[in-house]
Amino acid sequence: MSALLKIAQYFFTTGIKLVSSISIISLAALYIFQRKLVYPSSLNNARTLVDKPDKYNLPYEEITIVTDDNEKLQSYLLTHDSTDPNYANKTILILSPNAGNIGYFLPILHYIYQNLKYNVFIYSYRGYGSSTGSPSEYGLKKDADAVMRYISTNKQLSQSSIILYGRSLGGAVSIYIAAKYGHLISGIILENTFLSIPKVVPYIFPLLSPFSFICSEIWNSEEDVKKINPDIPCLFLSGTEDEIVPPKHMKVLYDTISESSDKDRTGVKIWRDFKANHNNTIVSPGYWDTWEQFAKELVVPIGK
Ligand SMILES: *[C@@H]1O[C@H](CO)[C@@H](O)[C@H](O)[C@H]1NC(C)=O
Ligand SMILES: *[C@@H]1O[C@H](CO)[C@@H](O)[C@H](O)[C@H]1NC(C)=O
Repeated sequence: MSALLKIAQYFFTTGIKLVSSISIISLAALYIFQRKLVYPSSLNNARTLVDKPDKYNLPYEEITIVTDDNEKLQSYLLTHDSTDPNYANKTILILSPNAGNIGYFLPILHYIYQNLKYNVFIYSYRGYGSSTGSPSEYGLKKDADAVMRYISTNKQLSQSSIILYGRSLGGAVSIYIAAKYGHLISGIILENTFLSIPKVVPYIFPLLSPFSFICSEIWNSEEDVKKINPDIPCLFLSGTEDEIVPPKHMKVLYDTISESSDKDRTGVKIWRDFKANHNNTIVSPGYWDTWEQFAKELVVPIGK
């Protein structure tokens, strides 16, 4: 009887040890591979083939931005003639969403440059497209620092009004830039971005929600948004059927930034939602009208 009990006990404790070591191994794996989950930069060969603006017959300069820690970021700069009487004197800095590469954005870049007549600057984060390195929150912030250094020393760009346009992950990068370089920023357009990575995890992977605490990638936009100068006008474009980022995140960001602006401040905060998901918000009816009206009428200089 007692021998049986001992055997049972042995199997029981070994079982527990086995299960818990498997969990520890999978947690460790999850910790190590989370960057691959958070930044799927290699999906669909996005690291091998990166389209260039000449594919759309757009004039551009290809610029390599070098970061403090020596990563080389591929970027495209498209400028208009600043002596043209209709020159808008505005530059859209595009902060890319997560998957894909800057080539995927060219149709939108074409529209902003050709139809709306703004200068455009777009770059690949480290570990994306043809940029060197591998992505992390720490690294992407260094990239943003290097890009802002470039913009603030480029003669034409530094004399234009800079508008940040960030979708999803790009929204988090925009909020980082706006919080740190507010004096260089004249407007912010955010689409389907999140409060933080740990707060998105339970929505996309419900089974992982008890493990949100092991996230090393945070992107704490919920806090950083409070540091944005209230004089900067902001536009929030939200897909109410977003299946990746809970739409409520956008609302909380909007409410937070609106509360921090008292009535004496000039930067208006605009909210607009669309019956759309994470991907197709950008092609919703009214999206580009709202976008254009904001850039034209609410960002100084007005009307261009
Ligand atoms: C653009 O605006 C800046 C100030 O906002 C001004 O210094 C510069 O002269 C303007 N450039 C053109 C070409 O309008
Ligand atoms: C969103 O876009 C990605 C890549 O462009 C695609 O793989 C995915 O199926 C799309 N999802 C939806 C819901 O449209």
